Amino acid sequence: MESTATQLLASGALGVFLSLAVRQGEIEKHLVTLLALFALANVFLVVWAPANLGTTTIPEALVRVLQLDGALMTGLFGNIVLYRLFFHRLRNVPGPVGARISRFYAGYETWKHAQMHRHVQSLHQQYGDVVRIGPREVSICRPSAIRAIYGPPTRCTKGPWYDQITHDNTKKAMLGLRDLKLHSQRRRVWDLGVKAIHQYQAPVLDKSKLLVAKIREQQAQPMDITNWMSCFAFDVMGKIVLGTELGMLQTGQKSAELQQMDASARSVAVTGTIPWLPSMLLQIPVLGEALNPFRVFCHNVLDEKRKTMTKGSEPKDVISWLIQAQEKGDPSAAYTDIALKDDAWVAIIAGSDTTATAMTNAVFYLAAHPAVQTKLQQKLDELFPHGLQDWSYDSVKDFKYLTYVINETLRLKPSVPGGLARVTPPQGLQVDDVHIPGDVVVSVPTFTIQRDERYFDQADQFIPERWESIGNSANVPFIPFSRGVYDCVGKGIAWMEMRMALSMIVLEYDIRLADEAQRGFDGKELDNFVQELPALWTTFRARR
Ligand code: HEM
Repeated sequence: MESTATQLLASGALGVFLSLAVRQGEIEKHLVTLLALFALANVFLVVWAPANLGTTTIPEALVRVLQLDGALMTGLFGNIVLYRLFFHRLRNVPGPVGARISRFYAGYETWKHAQMHRHVQSLHQQYGDVVRIGPREVSICRPSAIRAIYGPPTRCTKGPWYDQITHDNTKKAMLGLRDLKLHSQRRRVWDLGVKAIHQYQAPVLDKSKLLVAKIREQQAQPMDITNWMSCFAFDVMGKIVLGTELGMLQTGQKSAELQQMDASARSVAVTGTIPWLPSMLLQIPVLGEALNPFRVFCHNVLDEKRKTMTKGSEPKDVISWLIQAQEKGDPSAAYTDIALKDDAWVAIIAGSDTTATAMTNAVFYLAAHPAVQTKLQQKLDELFPHGLQDWSYDSVKDFKYLTYVINETLRLKPSVPGGLARVTPPQGLQVDDVHIPGDVVVSVPTFTIQRDERYFDQADQFIPERWESIGNSANVPFIPFSRGVYDCVGKGIAWMEMRMALSMIVLEYDIRLADEAQRGFDGKELDNFVQELPALWTTFRARR
C-alpha cells in the first residue's frame, strides 16, 4: 500500500499528464463526458479506498478521495496556468495576465460592466495593435486583418462561440455552422430567400407608416424611442422571416417572452464568453426551454406555418424559402427540423436587435446634432416638398446624405460592437509582419477599429460628411455587417428598413432629446454580443 504522500504525488502527476493531453483541440466539446467520467471515477475510488488506499471507513475514504481530487486539480490547472503564461505559442503576444490565463477574465469583465467592446479598446490603447484577449485568443486592430480573417476569401473558420447551442452540425442554425463548406452550402438558400427583397418592401412600408403614426399619437410628449424601435424591428422581422404578426408596435409593448429575453441578456452575454458553459447547460432537459421562451415561441410559429403552407406556392417570407428547400430535398436545406426552427429564431433575433439599436442610435445622433438633422430635413424637403404624401422608397433608396448619417451611426455604434471570433487555419495566418499560429481564435475589434484616429479623423465625433470623401465604404475599416463569407445575410433588408423608417420620421418630425440628461445615453451601450441600449427619451414635434 502506497503512503498518502505517494498517492497525492501520483494524483498530481496524473493532473499534469492530463493537462498535456488536453492541450490541443477543443476539449470543451467533450466536457460533459469528461465530467461524467470524473464523477464515476470518484464513486469507484470511494468504494475501492477502504481496501486499497489505507483508509478504514467510508467518511475517511471520502476525505482521501477529495485530497486526491485536490492534488489532481492542482496538477491539472497549475500546469495549464504555467503553460499558458510561459510556454504557450502566444506567449509573446502582449495582454493582461488574467486574459492570458483564462476565458473567465472576459466573463468577469462582461459581468462587471458588459462593455467588453470598450475594454478591448482600452487594451489596444495600452498594448498596441495585436493583443492577447484570451488564452488562445488574439484581437488584431489592423485594416489588413479584416481581409485576412474574414475574407473573401478566407480559410479561417468560426470560433467556439458559435457552438453555444450545440456542437452537432445537423442541428445548428446557419449562423452556428463553423465548417466553411457546410456554411456556404446552407447560405445558398438563405441568399435566395433574402434576394426576394421586393416581396418584403410592402410589410416594411406598413410597419414604417405605423411607427410614424404611433409617434404622432404621442403629440410631442417624451417617448422611449429605444422601446418603440425595438417593437418596430421585431414586428418587421416577424412578418419578413416568419410571415406572422407579432403586434408589438400596435401596443408599444414587447411580448412577455421578449421581456424575459431582455432581462437575461447580461447572463447570456456572460455565459457566451465561456462558450462551453451554455452548451453544457442546454443539455439539461427542460432548462433550455425555460431559459429561452422566445425560441420556443418561434419554433411553435414555424410548426403552425408548416401546417398551413400550400405545397409549391411561391414563398412570401424568408422561412418559406427554407421550408421549400427542405421539402424539395435541396442539399442546401437545413438537415433537421430543429436546425430549420433555429434558423427562424436566430434570424428574428439577428435582424431585430441589430436594426433597432442602429435606428435608436441614429435618432440619438440626429437629436444631439441639430445641424445634421436640419441638413437632412432640407434635403428630404427638396425631394418631397409635400411631406409624406410625396414620399417614395425609390427616391430614398439611393439618397446619399441619409446613407452617410446611417454609416456614421454604424461606425460609432456598430450594432455588434465586439470582434467576431474566427479560428486560424493549421498553417497559421500572416497579417502584415505578424504571424499568428494555427488554431488561434482571432478577431478584428469592430468598435475599436471604427474609432481609430489613424483611419478616421476626429474618430469619436459624429460627422456624416466624412463619407462624402470616403466614397466606397469598403475602402476603410468599416465592418458593421462584417465582411466575407459569413457577413450579414440580411443587410439589404436592414438598409431598406433603416432608410424607409428614418427618412419618414425625419421628414415629418423635429427630433429633440427630452432633457439634457439624455445626453448620458452616449457611452451607456452594453456589449451583450448585440448592443443593448438604455431607454432614450425623445420628443417628436410635427413639422407640418
Ligand atoms: C443594422 C442591422 C444589422 C446589422 C448591423 C447586422 C450585423 C450582422 C453581423 C455583424 C453579422 C455577422 C455575425 C457573425 O459573424 O457572428 C450578421 C450575420 C447575420 N445577420 Fe445581420 N445585421 C443586421 C440586420 C439583419 C437582418 C435584418 C437580418 C434578417 C433578415 C439579419 C440576419 C443575419 C443572419 C441570418 C446572419 C448570419 C449570417 C451567416 O452566418 O452567414 N441581419 N449580421
